[in-house]
Amino acid sequence: MRPVIIAANWKMHTVPSEAGPLAATIAARTADPDVSRVICPPFVALADVRDALAGTGVAVGAQNVHHELAGAHTGEVSAPMLVGLATWVIVGHSERRRDNGETDELIARKLDRARDAGLRPILCVGEQLAEREAGRAEAVVDGQLRGALAAALRSDAGPAPDLVIAYEPVWAIGTGRNAFGSDAAAMADAIRDTLGRIGFVDGGAGMPILYGGSVTAANIGEFLAEPAIDGALVGGASLKPDEMAGIVGRAGVTARARLAAVG
Ligand code: 13P
Repeated sequence: MRPVIIAANWKMHTVPSEAGPLAATIAARTADPDVSRVICPPFVALADVRDALAGTGVAVGAQNVHHELAGAHTGEVSAPMLVGLATWVIVGHSERRRDNGETDELIARKLDRARDAGLRPILCVGEQLAEREAGRAEAVVDGQLRGALAAALRSDAGPAPDLVIAYEPVWAIGTGRNAFGSDAAAMADAIRDTLGRIGFVDGGAGMPILYGGSVTAANIGEFLAEPAIDGALVGGASLKPDEMAGIVGRAGVTARARLAAVG
């Protein structure tokens, strides 16, 4: 049975003094032992958020990690630096692919660094609007998965054992135009198909796949009604405790239905 995961990506929002109290409020408003909750604040707020979330059951994630362990990389943050601050890390977000020119090859190396440091990666994939309109959405995501994961699958270390994938269609991020649940589920099936083809032993059946892109308390049910979708990576709405309460509340319904189904 796959877990139900709600991850908050705060992006470049909150200063440290407000991040801790906001995280504590969200933790209190979303308390549900059946839902895996993660909050990913900016790097500079990781320590405050870690302290605010101690004992709440909510995990802390970073939004990025450098592909080298250490070195002359001014302004960058390595995986070993995150240990003790975060236990999860977002890798390959489309905003970093766009703003920082992150390639699949670079993302593959970041995933290796995360695995080696014991950080749980959320690998983000997703197509642009023009690619979807050209009927290429599944091919684009297939290429992103192969580019990010194939080398690790060939290596002795393998990919992170607790990898999570977030399908975030670029045209749905921050636009208020979410994908249809059925389209997200079709993509999740395609993702598992690719995972099987590139060598994941169980054909990706155990891999948690999240949807991201304009998720709100009002539309989360459309995604969690799809058995192929295991939760959400939430951007804008994740800064609002009311929204997070609604999103995690709905996630708890799906988590308990899954628990009941396995007895
Ligand atoms: P929004 O929920 O603001 O569309 O952002 C989604 C996202 O990019 C999460 O990583």
